[in-house]
Amino acid sequence: MATARFIARVFDCVRAADREGLVPGAGSQALDGLSGAKTVGTLQRLAGLFAEEKDACYLEIGVYQGLTLLSVALGNPGIACFGIDNFSLLDPAGKNLGIVKDCIAKLGAKNAVLINADYEVALARLADHLGSRRLGVYFVDGPHDYRSHVMGLLLARPHLHDNAAIVIDDANYAFVRQSTRDFLLTNPDFKMVFEAYSPAHPANMDAATRKRHEAGWLNGIHVLVRDRKGVLPDMLPPVSDSRTLYVNEWLVHRHQLAELAPDALVLAQAVCLGDKDAEASKRESLAKAYAAERALFDKRFKDRNVYSDGLTEGRFNRAPS
Ligand SMILES: C[S@@+](CC[C@H](N)C(=O)[O-])C[C@H]1O[C@@H](n2cnc3c(N)ncnc32)[C@H](O)[C@@H]1O
Repeated sequence: MATARFIARVFDCVRAADREGLVPGAGSQALDGLSGAKTVGTLQRLAGLFAEEKDACYLEIGVYQGLTLLSVALGNPGIACFGIDNFSLLDPAGKNLGIVKDCIAKLGAKNAVLINADYEVALARLADHLGSRRLGVYFVDGPHDYRSHVMGLLLARPHLHDNAAIVIDDANYAFVRQSTRDFLLTNPDFKMVFEAYSPAHPANMDAATRKRHEAGWLNGIHVLVRDRKGVLPDMLPPVSDSRTLYVNEWLVHRHQLAELAPDALVLAQAVCLGDKDAEASKRESLAKAYAAERALFDKRFKDRNVYSDGLTEGRFNRAPS
């Protein structure tokens, strides 16, 4: 399909999802998950653009309990749908792998393939899973730190179909917006089609607001397309002018107690807000976490740890003969 026609159809898919949400009758309405109905409806419709293309497939990072993977697979039985998850997050009872496997079997989603692996490992060996297929639709919904979003986009890029749509979930997060912006600025053959945000993370919404956004784009979304012909004008997500928090990453990474940073911030919060109970309990858990990893921490400097000890003082690549 010509680029301009494909891009016009991507716009149609997003508009239809914005009006109508999920594709009716696809069989996945009962599934629970962490994406908004309009996001799921967009993925279902975008995958449908590749119904006639045997060399194309759908891939997502972040399966959780299977809402997005199964909704797309059931709505598009002719398309191979792959989902990568290592079930490392949001799964305290260790049940999600079993839930996804059961749902695939129970709902008869024969075209859904689960890749139980870390996303970087799976993307580095993607051809082992996909064969000769290219990614027609790629959904990024795994770990939401800045680096994972950038790596998720960069590692998948060589596997994308000539016509490809990328959907990035949780675009409310400032660092997700920043990663999309950085990717678009450095990959000008990709353009943004659509962005949508909600006023807070769903965990911080009241029940009515949450319900409304569950029927929408939940925690924000970006839709990108491959646009080699430059059909679309540039469009970038909004980001802050300040890079302080990204610079802070450098200060955290080099600190002796870097791994304790999230817990240390909770303690700092308790101190700053004068919450004495929280302060006492966090102080205790932080001391425990320190004691548990003391052998590691005590080998380090207090600051400016660079972890270069033992590395080569000079190494050439193999020179051309
Ligand atoms: C937000 S959930 C996905 C939600 C799902 N798409 C839905 O709509 O219901 C994020 C998932 O990413 C997975 N994840 C986190 N880090 C990962 C990693 N390094 N490799 C693979 N999956 C990872 C988590 O286990 C979790 O199930």
